Amino acid sequence: MKQIACIVGARPNFMKMAPILRALEQYSDVQTLLIHTGQHYDALLSDVFFQELGIRAPDVSLGVGSGSHATQTAKLLTGLEKTFLDAPDGAGSWSGVVVVGDVNSTMAAALTAAKLHIPIAHVEAGLRSFDRRMPEEINRLVTDSISDLLLVSEPAGVKNLKGEGHSEEKIFLVGNVMIDTLLQQVDRARTRKLLPDLSLTPGQYCVVTLHRPSNVDHLSVLEGLVQVLEDVSKDLPVVFPVHPRTRGRLDESGLTARLEAAPDIRLLEPLGYNDFLCLTSQAKVIVTDSGGLQEESTALGVPCLTMRENTERPVTVEEGTSTLCGSDARMLSSCLNDIIHGRYKSGRCPDLWDGHAAVRIAEQIVASW
Ligand code: UD1
Repeated sequence: MKQIACIVGARPNFMKMAPILRALEQYSDVQTLLIHTGQHYDALLSDVFFQELGIRAPDVSLGVGSGSHATQTAKLLTGLEKTFLDAPDGAGSWSGVVVVGDVNSTMAAALTAAKLHIPIAHVEAGLRSFDRRMPEEINRLVTDSISDLLLVSEPAGVKNLKGEGHSEEKIFLVGNVMIDTLLQQVDRARTRKLLPDLSLTPGQYCVVTLHRPSNVDHLSVLEGLVQVLEDVSKDLPVVFPVHPRTRGRLDESGLTARLEAAPDIRLLEPLGYNDFLCLTSQAKVIVTDSGGLQEESTALGVPCLTMRENTERPVTVEEGTSTLCGSDARMLSSCLNDIIHGRYKSGRCPDLWDGHAAVRIAEQIVASW
C-alpha cells in the first residue's frame, strides 16, 4: 500500500487538495493521510471549505496558528516532523508527500519531508513573480528546489523551472486543479440567494478582495486603495468580503469607518466557497490582489483588475481576463471605464484548465511512487 501524506494549511489550499484527494482515492493501492497544519483556523477560512467541498475531516490537525514567519514556520516544521516520524515505520512509512500552492505550510511541509528523505510532489510548481519581497515567492523557490515531482498549471511554470535548471523528467504540465473545483461547483453556487440578499443585480456589481501584505500592511498604500474603492462605488456597487489580516489593518487605521460610510460599498465577513463563487461568477468586474482569483476570473470569463505590479500567473493576463493595475488608481479607473463601456478585452480559458487536472496529477504521482 502506498501511504501518501496530503498537506493543507491555509484557505487557498483546500479547493486545490479536494479534487486531488478524490483522484488519489480511486487507486486501490493508495492510502492518503490528510494533514491540516492549522495555519488558518477560523471557521470562515477553514471549516466552511471542508463542509462545502466535501473534504473529510483531517486525519491529523496540528493547530500551529498565526505568528511571525519564523514562529509559524518553526511550529510547522516541528509539528510535521513529529507527524511523519510517528508513523509505524517512521519516515520510511511514507511513499510521498503532496503539497499545493505557495503558503508557509507548503514550504514547511516540503522542507520537513526533504530532510526525512520522503519524496515530494509540488502542485502549482514553477510559478514566479520574480519579486522576492513576496513571502509566497520565497515559498515557491524553496519548495520547487527540493521537490521530486513538479506539477505545473500553466506553460510559464515549465519555462521557469527549465530556466532554473530543473530536470525535464521531473516537470509535468498538468493544468489547473483549482479550476477542477470551480467547474464542479459553479452551477450549484449560482443558485444561492446571496445576490438578492445583498440587493445586487447579476452583472451589475464589482467584487473586491485584498489581503497581500504589500497592499494592506502599509497605511499609505491601503489608504490609496480605499480611495480607489470609494471612486469605483460611484459607478458600480462594491461588495468586499474582508480577510482577517485586512480587517485588522482597516480597523487600526480608522479606514473601516470610511468604507462603511460610502453609500454603495458592502463590507462582509470572509465568505464560504459557494457564496463567494456565486458572487464572482456573476460580477461585472473583480478587483483583487489574490493569485487564485486571477485564475478563477479567467476561467469564468469575468474581467479582473489585479492590484499588483507583477503576477506569477502570466497566462491570466496574456490569454485571460486579467490586467495588472499595480496600486494605480488612475489605471484602475480607466480600466473600469472600459469595462463599463464594453471596451475591455475578452479572454479565453487556458489549455488544461478543463476540470481534469486532478486526474492527471494523481496519475503522475501514482506512476512515480
Ligand atoms: C496566507 C498566505 C497567502 C495566502 C493567504 C490566503 C503565507 C505566507 N501567506 O496569508 O499566500 O494568499 O493565506 O488567505 O502563507 N488570521 C485570522 N484567522 C485565521 C488565520 C489568520 O484571523 O484563521 C489573521 C491573523 O491575524 C494572522 C493574519 O490573519 O496573523 C495573517 O495570517 P497568515 O496565515 O499569516 O497569512 P495570510 O495573510 O492569511
